[in-house]
Amino acid sequence: MAVRELPTIYSKRHLLGIEGLSPLEIQLLLDRADEFVDHGRQANKKLDQMRGLTQINLFFESSTRTRTSFELAGKRLGADVVNMSISSSSIKKGETLIDTAMTLNAMHPDVLVARHHDSGAVALLARHVNCAVINAGDGSHEHPTQALLDALTIRRRRGRIEGLLVAICGDILHSRVARSNILLLSAMGARIRVVAPKTLLPASIDAYGVEVCANMETGLADADIVMMLRLQTERMQGSFVPSVREYFHLFGLTYDKLTRAKPDALIMHPGPMNRGVEIDGTVADDIDRSAILDQVELGVAVRMACLDTLTRNLKAAA
Ligand code: CP
Repeated sequence: MAVRELPTIYSKRHLLGIEGLSPLEIQLLLDRADEFVDHGRQANKKLDQMRGLTQINLFFESSTRTRTSFELAGKRLGADVVNMSISSSSIKKGETLIDTAMTLNAMHPDVLVARHHDSGAVALLARHVNCAVINAGDGSHEHPTQALLDALTIRRRRGRIEGLLVAICGDILHSRVARSNILLLSAMGARIRVVAPKTLLPASIDAYGVEVCANMETGLADADIVMMLRLQTERMQGSFVPSVREYFHLFGLTYDKLTRAKPDALIMHPGPMNRGVEIDGTVADDIDRSAILDQVELGVAVRMACLDTLTRNLKAAA
């Protein structure tokens, strides 16, 4: 694959969040990812942009999509990729996050991909290492590569982001995906509406500059994109919904509720999905309406773009 020379507009060392990225930097990463999509469909997927570089994946929280796609992305770019297993690491013997970071740093990795259950933990880790750090999700704070892959999915399926009405529905309160998507899609000119019961909205929602709707019927009206989120029970202390059955009745995406959206509205979900809770299984599997597996595919391309961009910056600075 021919590799374009990158313009120097993405000059950051880390990717810790969408906050602080300019629309131009977002566009650069999306354009870069677009170049990797077709490559991922070829028989020979091996490139060499990261040949000789070391990538460590450090996931303190479980993951299927993000961890696997970062591993594939690094390997497809030619990096040596190490997946650190937390359950068999010295973290289990009481080693702190910072000591773990400094220990890994002493082995001279070039990029560290980290997921942690605490908001801000990945930024803290980045302050103690010399390599590039990518946030693969920190608590309910940010999940920047998810927002980038969601934006790429929308851009490829709709040809644009600007001017689209995106309804983000479900557990906004605990969702790093919602926060990163609100920041990114707003920056790219989309109109955002969050749809959730009051118990699942952050107290600071007015500061986000989004429309707020407490029911699906008005919340989905004329939406171009319907993005569903699961109930993040692992971050809940106490009860936020009366029952799963009632939640599905009121907020679960069904064909009936979908009639309120635009006839060609695209259904998205970052995964993992809980069928029969926030989304009906037949709606999720509707190949004419659902972009859920596109999101997964484009996740590899987006992560290749992020790894490639950050490690190019490192090489340029060396
Ligand atoms: N969307 C997402 O972050 O999925 P995983 O938890 O499987 O990585």
